[in-house]
Amino acid sequence: MIDAPLDLPCGATLKNRIVKSGLSEALGDTKNNPTEALISIFRRWSQGGAGLLITGNILIDRWHLEHAGNFVLDRSTDMNKTSELTKAAKSGGSLVLAQLSHAGRQTPKAINPDPLSISNLKLDLEGYGQPRMASDKDFSELIEKFSTSAKLAQECGFDGVEIHAAHGYLLSSSLSPRINNRKDKWGGSFENRARLLQLILQKVREAVGNNFILAVKINSSDFQKGGLEISDSVKIANLIEKENIDFIEVSGGNFEAPEAYQYVSLKESTKSREAYFLDAAKNIKASVSIPIMVTGGFRSISVMEDALTSSSTDLIGIGRPFVIDPSFPYKLLNGDISVLPAVERNFPPAQDIPKGAVLNWFCDQLALQGKTGKGDINIPLIDGHERYIKQSDEATHSLISFRNDSK
Ligand SMILES: Cc1cc2nc3c(=O)[nH]c(=O)nc-3n(C[C@H](O)[C@H](O)[C@H](O)COP(=O)(O)O)c2cc1C
Repeated sequence: MIDAPLDLPCGATLKNRIVKSGLSEALGDTKNNPTEALISIFRRWSQGGAGLLITGNILIDRWHLEHAGNFVLDRSTDMNKTSELTKAAKSGGSLVLAQLSHAGRQTPKAINPDPLSISNLKLDLEGYGQPRMASDKDFSELIEKFSTSAKLAQECGFDGVEIHAAHGYLLSSSLSPRINNRKDKWGGSFENRARLLQLILQKVREAVGNNFILAVKINSSDFQKGGLEISDSVKIANLIEKENIDFIEVSGGNFEAPEAYQYVSLKESTKSREAYFLDAAKNIKASVSIPIMVTGGFRSISVMEDALTSSSTDLIGIGRPFVIDPSFPYKLLNGDISVLPAVERNFPPAQDIPKGAVLNWFCDQLALQGKTGKGDINIPLIDGHERYIKQSDEATHSLISFRNDSK
């Protein structure tokens, strides 16, 4: 089934079921426009044969990035460069979605010391500032900004957008009963917590029309006490399905509970079944009639085929293997390989390595792929981790100098 096309409600057709999930490339320039390195990696991903490519976080607001090198889509974006990016991303016949996001309280302090968030609950990690709770005016501006970015994405040749409402960013924290402790119409009850996402979806659909892919990424669970649980995510899926969307991507966790990225801290039972969120996806799929995508852990063709044939999901989202081998989809579809690279399995347990080291190592590999056309899996974990931290610090420094010079 992996090579079977899939028709989406908006009329678009994906040529197969393999989707590159969002991978924050951090390959934007100082003005947060796409660079040649970003265009180059998207060309290779497209020519690798995936049915759909989803970009990493594209931020709708310059003051709420998750990394200084993020790509931003607003009225100052370089539209020509962005059109070059979408052309490259479609050069091999893949469709491409812009993943639209607002980092909320997960915006690093160096980028914004008092980021906008759904509540004033601070992220329980070093390097993040005290958030400012959104006002009614902020909510109206947020809805407007998501729809402006979606319209700009359409003008630059994207086939659609994915609204990022997972992983602890602003929309995810709005849905979370743990973070969204508001007492007004934007918080508290399930309906109130879902209001912002619902209004954004309505406004985006109105802006882009009916023939453009509109997807949403949600958490199946926040993996935190008092956080979002599978019963909530099923309810969210039921609610947003009514907003004329094309599919829902299921993931989980956030910066405080990084279940989606950290193989090293997973339970043995989760590791052995590969696809971390498959049970949750199956539950959600059973309660909606639009397609479902699930991302996280898929490495063998047998597990992917089982997931499709057992009606647990319609699309197979894959992340880290695209960093190691950008052209694996054709090899998998042709039967040349049956298992994808799973470099994350070789690293030491989480308690023995610095926090974030594995994620940083993958980010470093991604930067290498973009800038040099190839990665190097022999780079030791700590070397890749430290090099990426250095690059991130440099990117932050350049962003701040640019902001100061523009004042
Ligand atoms: C380096 C890196 C960057 C990521 N950036 C994003 C992102 O920008 N947006 C997103 O939704 N998920 C992001 N993710 C999560 C992946 O989409 C995916 O859920 C995760 O890697 C698990 O899938 P996998 O086991 O196939 O890698 C990122 C993961 C990694 C490793």
